[in-house]
Amino acid sequence: MPRHAFLPDVGIDDVYTDRAFPTKHADGKPISSSSQPAIMAIMLEQLALQPGQRVLEIGAGTGYNAALIAHLVGDRGQIVTIDIDEDVVVAARQHLAAAGFDRVDVRCADGGYGDPEGAPFDRIILTASAWDITPAWFEQLTLGGRLVLPLSLRQVQQSVAFERHQDHLESVSVADCGFMPLRGDFAGPQRVVALSQPSGPFVVVEGDRPIDPSALSEALKTAPMEMATGLRATVAEACGSLSLWLALEDPDSCLLSIYADPSVVDRSAVPLLIEWSAGDMKQRSTRAILGKGGLVALARPSETAHDFQEARVPLSIVNFRAEPALVERMHSHLEAWERAGRPRTDALRISAYPKDRRAQVTSDARVLERRWTTLVISRDRQ
Ligand SMILES: C[S@@+](CC[C@H](N)C(=O)[O-])C[C@H]1O[C@@H](n2cnc3c(N)ncnc32)[C@H](O)[C@@H]1O
Repeated sequence: MPRHAFLPDVGIDDVYTDRAFPTKHADGKPISSSSQPAIMAIMLEQLALQPGQRVLEIGAGTGYNAALIAHLVGDRGQIVTIDIDEDVVVAARQHLAAAGFDRVDVRCADGGYGDPEGAPFDRIILTASAWDITPAWFEQLTLGGRLVLPLSLRQVQQSVAFERHQDHLESVSVADCGFMPLRGDFAGPQRVVALSQPSGPFVVVEGDRPIDPSALSEALKTAPMEMATGLRATVAEACGSLSLWLALEDPDSCLLSIYADPSVVDRSAVPLLIEWSAGDMKQRSTRAILGKGGLVALARPSETAHDFQEARVPLSIVNFRAEPALVERMHSHLEAWERAGRPRTDALRISAYPKDRRAQVTSDARVLERRWTTLVISRDRQ
C-alpha cells in the first residue's frame, strides 16, 4: 500500500519506517496523524476482516488505514470513514483518490454518533482513544460483529477487540497501544494540565481531581530524590503490564509527559519510562502518583531508550517533593505487581455493558463506571 500517497509531505526515506507521523497540531499537541504501522497491523488483525464486510472507521486521518481496510474487504465490501475535522476529511479524500480507493466514503462528523445512515456494520474501528463506548457503536454493530478501539483506562491505553453479544460486548483480544484522544461530544474527562510553556512537561489526569500546576511545576524544577527499587523489568513490561497495574490500583495515578523536538527542547525534567517518536517529535512519559504538592514517578536508565525487547532493566522511583507516604505507596504497588506475577495485559478480559443492561460482575473483577457503559475488568488465569 503506497503510504507516500497519504503522507505527501514526508520524505520517501522516512515514510516507510515504522513511525507515526503527526499531520495536524493544536496547542502544541498532535490532533491528527498517520498511526504507527505496527499498531495499525495489530488492530487490523484484531478486527478480523472478511471480504464483503461493511466497516465503519472513526478517525479517518490521512485515509491510509481506510485504504488498508478497503483492500482487505475487497470490492464487495463497503467502508465509511469519519473524521471530525473538515480539512482532514478533504485531504483524506484526495489521498484515497490518488491511491485508487475513491470507493471509500469519507464523511465529516462526530464519530461518537457512529453513522446511522450506513448502519448496521460488521466491524467498527476507532483510531482515536476512547474513555467510553457510546450507545451508537453498540447499537450500530451487528450481533457477532467486532468493535476494535483504543480504550483509555486511567491514561493507559489498550487496543481491545470486542465481540457484540445480545446485551453486552465481550473482549476477545487486548494489546498495548497509544493514540490521541477522541474529541467532540464523547471526549473523555481526562485533562491535560500544562506545567510550563506549551512545549514543556504536562500531566494527564482523569476527571475533576484537584491539581496545583504551579506547585507541581516548582516540584519538577527541584533536584529529585531517586531510589532504586531492586526490581528489573523490560521496557514493554513497564509500559504495559506495570503501567496498567498502577492505573487500575491507584486512582491518583497519572501520566507525566513532554512532547517536543529533542534537538530543541531539554526533556530531562520528565523521568524516562516510555518513549515514542512522531516524525521529528518525541514523546517521553512516565507513570506517576500525584500527591499534594508533588509527585512520585517511575524511571529507567536512558541508554535503553530504544530497547523494547527482552532485556530487563532496573526501575527506580523518583520523588519530586512528594510526601514520604507516596513513595511507600509506589513501592507497595511494585511489590504487589511482582507478587501477582506481572499480569500480562493480553490476559485482560473486559466486558462492557450499556447502562440500561444488568452487568455480570465476578468477585475478582474491577468495575469502572463510565457515562454510557459499565466496564467489568478481570484477568485470565496465567
Ligand atoms: C490517529 S488519527 C487517525 C489515523 C488514520 N486512521 C490514518 O490512517 O491516517 C486520529 C483521528 O481521529 C480524529 N478524531 C478525533 N475525534 C474524532 C471524533 N469524535 N470523530 C471523528 N474523528 C475524530 C482526528 O481528527 C484524527 O484525524
